[in-house]
Amino acid sequence: MNQRDLHDICIIAKQAGLILREGYEQHHDIKMKTRQDDLVTEMDKKSENFILDQLNKLYPGDMIITEETGQHTGDADHVWYIDPLDGTMNYAHGIPFFAVSIGYAYKGELTMGVVYDPMRDECFYAEKGKGAWVNGKPIKTSPRTDLTNSLFVTGFSISQMEKTRTNNFPVFEHFMRTTAGVRRTGVAALEICYVACGRLDGMWELKLMAWDVAAGFVIAKEAGVKITALDGVSDAFVPPYNYIIANPELHEKMTKELEPFHIAP
Ligand code: IPD
Ligand code: CA
Ligand code: CA
Repeated sequence: MNQRDLHDICIIAKQAGLILREGYEQHHDIKMKTRQDDLVTEMDKKSENFILDQLNKLYPGDMIITEETGQHTGDADHVWYIDPLDGTMNYAHGIPFFAVSIGYAYKGELTMGVVYDPMRDECFYAEKGKGAWVNGKPIKTSPRTDLTNSLFVTGFSISQMEKTRTNNFPVFEHFMRTTAGVRRTGVAALEICYVACGRLDGMWELKLMAWDVAAGFVIAKEAGVKITALDGVSDAFVPPYNYIIANPELHEKMTKELEPFHIAP
């Protein structure tokens, strides 16, 4: 039986967000993990420890996969994907745009997601088959279908730029020239939610991790967003977590535009 409760998860995400908010603009112990664009602060760990503690109390024995401490063994029918601070670069620079992201999969299928933005006190949440919400209001993705007037968002990581076939720059340039614009906020979980609630029209990104997208994908799907890998049909929730998201008609157009770039899967 699946007794995981979305309301409880919203409370945990909000409490973790409060920890981040209280630590915002304080002095941080910033460390580089793999490269100069891959940072961790003591607050990532504080938020993660809090979430781990709460989930272990509420649902002992579940498997938990987190950004900072990896896989915590447990029942593979119940898997949690945790990004305790999405947008660490923003946070470390005092930019007030970051989030807590908690996704959940039951028997391999993503069924619940919560993304909380503590600076705007906005909680995005969804459960499979029950719609998507922000602070109690139902959300729907944008109905815009023409590329020219669409506002997109994407992200980059240095590791991609080194490899031609995973280089996002040419695609970025193409969409910059042919759409209303392409944003890059550095917070994938929130960017996905912004597509879900219609603030942005579409998104594509290459090479993320499960914890970046798990919660957002549930929210986006429930808000009417089509989510696939870059070929327009394959599952996006598998490594390397490349994806295109938008309403179905715009999604099809984005897929066609991406085709000539032959980006590696
Ligand atoms: C990063 C953000 C960013 C994305 C990066 C991620 P982090 O997560 O989601 O938008 O482009 O690839 O690593 O490190 O801030 O949790
Ligand atoms: Ca992240
Ligand atoms: Ca993170």
